[in-house]
Amino acid sequence: MILKDKIEQQLPEWRERVRKLVRENGDVKVGDVTIAQVYGGMRSVKSLVTDISYVDPVEGIRFRGHTIPEILKLLPKPDGAAMPYVGGLYYLFLVGSAPTAQQAQEVETEWKKRGKVPQYVFDVINSLPPDAHPMTLFTLAVLTLQRESLFSKKYHAGIQKDQYWEPMLEDSMNLVAKLPEIAAYIYRLKYKNGDIIPSDPDLDWGANFAHMMGVPDPLYKDLSRLYFLLHSDHESGNVSAHTTHLVASSLSDIYYAASAGLSGLAGPLHGLANQECLNWLLSVKEECADCAYDKEALRQFAWDTLNSGQVIPGYGHAVLRKTDPRYTAQLEFGKKYFPEDEIFKLAALVYEVVPDVLREQGKAKDPWPNVDAISGSLQYHFGVKEFDFYTVIFGVSRILGVSANAVWARALGQPIERPKSLTTAMLEEIAQKAKA
Ligand SMILES: CC(C)(COP(=O)(O)OP(=O)(O)OC[C@H]1O[C@@H](n2cnc3c(N)ncnc32)[C@H](O)[C@@H]1OP(=O)(O)O)[C@@H](O)C(=O)NCCC(=O)NCCS
Repeated sequence: MILKDKIEQQLPEWRERVRKLVRENGDVKVGDVTIAQVYGGMRSVKSLVTDISYVDPVEGIRFRGHTIPEILKLLPKPDGAAMPYVGGLYYLFLVGSAPTAQQAQEVETEWKKRGKVPQYVFDVINSLPPDAHPMTLFTLAVLTLQRESLFSKKYHAGIQKDQYWEPMLEDSMNLVAKLPEIAAYIYRLKYKNGDIIPSDPDLDWGANFAHMMGVPDPLYKDLSRLYFLLHSDHESGNVSAHTTHLVASSLSDIYYAASAGLSGLAGPLHGLANQECLNWLLSVKEECADCAYDKEALRQFAWDTLNSGQVIPGYGHAVLRKTDPRYTAQLEFGKKYFPEDEIFKLAALVYEVVPDVLREQGKAKDPWPNVDAISGSLQYHFGVKEFDFYTVIFGVSRILGVSANAVWARALGQPIERPKSLTTAMLEEIAQKAKA
């Protein structure tokens, strides 16, 4: 397999680089940790390593060193498509350099070979009550596939430690290959009376998802590719990425680890944020007719939201200090293809008003929009209006990043995670001594 060969070629050099760094500089300090950080969710504590993505406070996310606009130019696209093959992104994540069109297609072909979802996964999905949340179904489907794990079988058969990454890669390819069909199945089962659309072997991974969702507009194929690309990875400290890494660090396979990551993604402070943004936009539309064209009315509405003690969803970021380039890529997509869409237009107008309002209020460190401020309105345009499902699409995308990271963590022999905890009394004592 192309990905295996390419990783294998780089491994001796990578392993030596890491060994040398730790051997010769193991005691060099990376940073300090304050009591506020210990009690504050470990915010900004530098204690993880990934070479796949990095969030620059000004430029936003870089994948393997490339910004989002660069990535959109760099990665090969299917004939006639505006957005790249997702297989090409996965190649970039795993290999470290951009693929040729043929290399991206090879990854796509591998996924096609591995894409068949076993019936028992659908049986498990079907066995849940109709009101089960789509994220529960999706997470459970990924966990159910665990019986397919090659890593688990090979580990118990006594595989050598330096080969752990090979079955991890196989498992990751097998899992990723099945995600579009599983996700679309859940959508059609829950919201389209179980009228399932079979997979089309002629389509690439991203387009096949769009096809199985049953969205008639062909442009949804490009939106799907774009969405999967933008949400795939965001360093290692966010909840879904860190959870996956932590669970995999105990040598759990990718099915256990990724389903745990998805459980984290299901939380309202993480993957559910995009539906809150769309909800807010819809409330603007319903409660303030003038807001669609009158910036002053919109400004007042934003202030009313803040004065009622709520946040403006989709604005602000823990790390970024300017407009999230993932927001900009989606804004440009909407501007190009459906600038007159009512909700999209409103989202674009909010961008002209809300940053100033947040600056005036003076609380948010970052007054600019994040990725969630607009992604829901694009889905809405294509008729995917079931908010609960949005996190599943995010999850499909996020597994690309977390699984690629898991392969490299195995390849570089990253150990089990085991930070140290203290008691509150110990922290009080440390504080007293520091003041004395
Ligand atoms: C994304 C977010 C969670 C980052 O949190 P953070 O790093 O703690 O943000 P800050 O350090 O800038 O927060 C400082 C203050 O500004 C407030 N603030 C930040 N973003 C805000 C927003 N969009 N609207 C109103 N107030 C906001 C915070 O609530 C906080 O107030 P507090 O001191 O009363 O607790 C935060 O900006 C937010 O809640 N945004 C809205 C929800 C959202 O878009 N979530 C999606 C995340 S990708």
